Amino acid sequence: MDKFVINGRNKLYGEISVSGAKNAAVAIIPAVVLADEPCVIENLPKIKDVSVILSILKHMGAEVTFIDGDESRVRIDPTGITSHKVTCDKLVGDMRASYYLLGALLGKFGKALVPFPGGCSFCERPINLHLKAFETLGAACNILPTHIELMSDKLEGRQIYFDVVSVGATMNAMLAAVKVPGKTVIDRAAKEPHIVDLANFLNSMGANIKGAGTDVIKIRGVERLHSCTYSIIPDQIEAGTYMAAVAAAGGNVLIKDVIPEHLDSITAKLRDTGTIVEEYDEAVRVIREDELKSCNVKTMPHPGFPTDMQPQFVALLSTAHGRSRVMECVWESRFSYIPQLRKMGADIIENGNIAHIYGKQDLCGAKVHALDLRAGAAMVIAALAAYGTTEISDIRYIERGYEKIIEKLSSIGADIRRVTYKENVDE
Ligand code: EPU
Repeated sequence: MDKFVINGRNKLYGEISVSGAKNAAVAIIPAVVLADEPCVIENLPKIKDVSVILSILKHMGAEVTFIDGDESRVRIDPTGITSHKVTCDKLVGDMRASYYLLGALLGKFGKALVPFPGGCSFCERPINLHLKAFETLGAACNILPTHIELMSDKLEGRQIYFDVVSVGATMNAMLAAVKVPGKTVIDRAAKEPHIVDLANFLNSMGANIKGAGTDVIKIRGVERLHSCTYSIIPDQIEAGTYMAAVAAAGGNVLIKDVIPEHLDSITAKLRDTGTIVEEYDEAVRVIREDELKSCNVKTMPHPGFPTDMQPQFVALLSTAHGRSRVMECVWESRFSYIPQLRKMGADIIENGNIAHIYGKQDLCGAKVHALDLRAGAAMVIAALAAYGTTEISDIRYIERGYEKIIEKLSSIGADIRRVTYKENVDE
């Protein structure tokens, strides 16, 4: 077992580069299943979730080759995928986004049999809206004890209305509909940058998708999807996490390879804390010299403040002067990591979907767990700001979504290292 050991209070200086977006990559890779020719995907993040979804595709019969041995560029030939059944249960159960295989296989074969997805389980994560979209297009959905089965005689373009805005259901509806005859309209679609990225990728293969990034996405089904070379957008949440890390630790860091517009809501909230954020074409500079000020945050679907930055901001605001209020409005509950922050001295009271944070500047190192990907990122941020040494266990969650986090943070002056330990010896 490995853990991160962080000695806090080092200010951060220098430059850091952001990798490709996890939540775009994990949808775009399954989307290749729909292609009738090989595709090249570039700017892939080197993270666990990407290697798992690539392994699943290989297991299904796709040929997966890294170009010149570079793991950020992959050629995927899906022509060897001849079955709608996914049999690698363990791999599928390792990640949430394996549910995109449902839409992709339904779109390709008119049927799908996929094991239940796994992934970060900070709260219940239903897929009823995904199934509703498939049913609207004409599929019958059966929930079996260990699998989800989709069957259809004939799929047809229709109007899909979501009463809750869902990233995954919007993506899955696009995947299922892209080759379906007629016109599909997705009403109350999610608008996250990765929705637009998936639509751009599918359009690069010859799909006809309009309106991605707005509430209404219109899709005209096409018969074939051809080869393409496509570069994934930078990871909004990885960028936001490093912005919050600099704000927490103090310092002056240029965060490169980002799309500043994707960071608008994060930038606005950081500015509320007194952190300086300068925007350039493809970079942001974050400067924090003075004491942080408290602020209130409410998570919302894009373009609102992203829920995937909520734990990192709660960690940050734990070190700010005054009382902050963070309201979680996307997930029913996403505060299970707060007791871990309390071990470091954070003063936070939860009340339903609201966290009241009484900031203090003297968080102290402790032994904590990364309960999930973003909760783990929050522990790293708190540890960078805290006095003394923090040991974070269960780092496999963090490594699902952050490429080379140790190398990146060390390069800007953080004292962070990975150590291997025997379970239960020092816990
Ligand atoms: N919802 C339903 N029914 C559904 C689907 C969702 O009621 O069928 C509800 C959820 O319970 C939640 C809300 O809709 O309250 C939004 O969920 P959404 O479907 O948008 O989430 P998701 O697609 O499963 C993706 C990201 C999450 C991120 C959310 C919200 C991926 C692989 N995951 O999940 O990312 O929190 O969107 O932005 O794209 C992460 O990266 O750490 C992560 C958890």
